[in-house]
Amino acid sequence: NNYLVIMAGGVGSRFWPMSTEQKPKQFLDVLGLGRTLLQQTVDRFKEICPSENILVVTSSKYKKLVSEQCPELLESNILLEPCMRNTAPCIAYASYKIKELNSEANIVVAPSDHLITNTTEFVRVIKEGLDFTSKNKALLTLGIMPHKPETGYGYIQANNNNQQPLKVAAFKEKPNLETAKSYLNEGNYFWNSGIFLWSLDTILEAFEANLPEVAELFKKGKEIYNTPKEQAFIDIEFPNCINISVDYGILEKANNIFVQPADFGWSDLGTWGSLWEKQSKCENQNAVIGENTHLFEVKNTIVHVPNDKKVVIQGLDNFIVVEENGTLLICKKQEEQRIKEFRSAVLDK
Ligand code: GDD
Ligand code: MG
Repeated sequence: NNYLVIMAGGVGSRFWPMSTEQKPKQFLDVLGLGRTLLQQTVDRFKEICPSENILVVTSSKYKKLVSEQCPELLESNILLEPCMRNTAPCIAYASYKIKELNSEANIVVAPSDHLITNTTEFVRVIKEGLDFTSKNKALLTLGIMPHKPETGYGYIQANNNNQQPLKVAAFKEKPNLETAKSYLNEGNYFWNSGIFLWSLDTILEAFEANLPEVAELFKKGKEIYNTPKEQAFIDIEFPNCINISVDYGILEKANNIFVQPADFGWSDLGTWGSLWEKQSKCENQNAVIGENTHLFEVKNTIVHVPNDKKVVIQGLDNFIVVEENGTLLICKKQEEQRIKEFRSAVLDK
């Protein structure tokens, strides 16, 4: 009864200009491991569920990328959104479709843009989590112990008890720096890994209680899912759905949330800085991709430039220098969350 829903419709805007609208970062092999982030996500679940129980929800413009990169998936399991409505509608669509396939389903929802280095431990935690959600009406999140005041993540405040998974006291999506610092000092806050486990019944109830208009919209497709009319129904109805993330729409509101502290070498790879942390470094903690790059008094900097370009940099400390897809970006690492903002300012021109 195990199902996997992979969310792969984001544009990876903080990873611009490497991640572009035509080919967002989940379809890229950002670390040069030979498999793209999406393929790595599918690979990790091989032991957890059969490939016919894996659904990928993405934008219709990425249909070809998904089927080329994941030939093992059923075509009917590639769910195509006509427009972006964030993660709550994405999860609702997949859940209401799964309901017509297997009403006993036990579901893992996973982002497609993460790096996980310890697969054995990952598989163990997921199996244990699925066992828990099959027996409890719980929305289970996997929490990562924070090591810096990151503002790009959601934070999960756990109740102080010692029975795992821990009951969640509050869920806070993307705090500001000051708040993130206070969370780090408290000790009972975890990063939301963005990986969720729940039974089909539990998530459908959560949609009905917290986002009833979203639930109504997708319920209308009951007779249509898994038939040739599904795409036409989605193309008409999906744009009418509100735009909201599962974090704001459900996790911040529901009260049956649990967190399983987990340690499997998780990294979000959401930004250039997180990639830099995972890359191997040359002298002075610089991570360089670009064979013709020359650095003078440069430290803690990530350089990602074409091999055939002679690049000379002096004096930068803690910077991001990227040239890809016709764009050169030079940005302080501390300001990397703003790349999203720069990208839309530039692309709107
Ligand atoms: N299908 C679909 N449609 N997928 C989407 C959409 C959409 O409209 N929007 C985002 N996604 C996918 C992305 O491709 C990614 O795999 C996943 O959903 C999460 O979206 P992000 O846009 O990457 O979210 P985030 O990184 O800002 O925040 C989330 O993840 C953090 C951990 O990585 C939140 O859940 C945070 O609380 C969490 O800490
Ligand atoms: Mg992300």
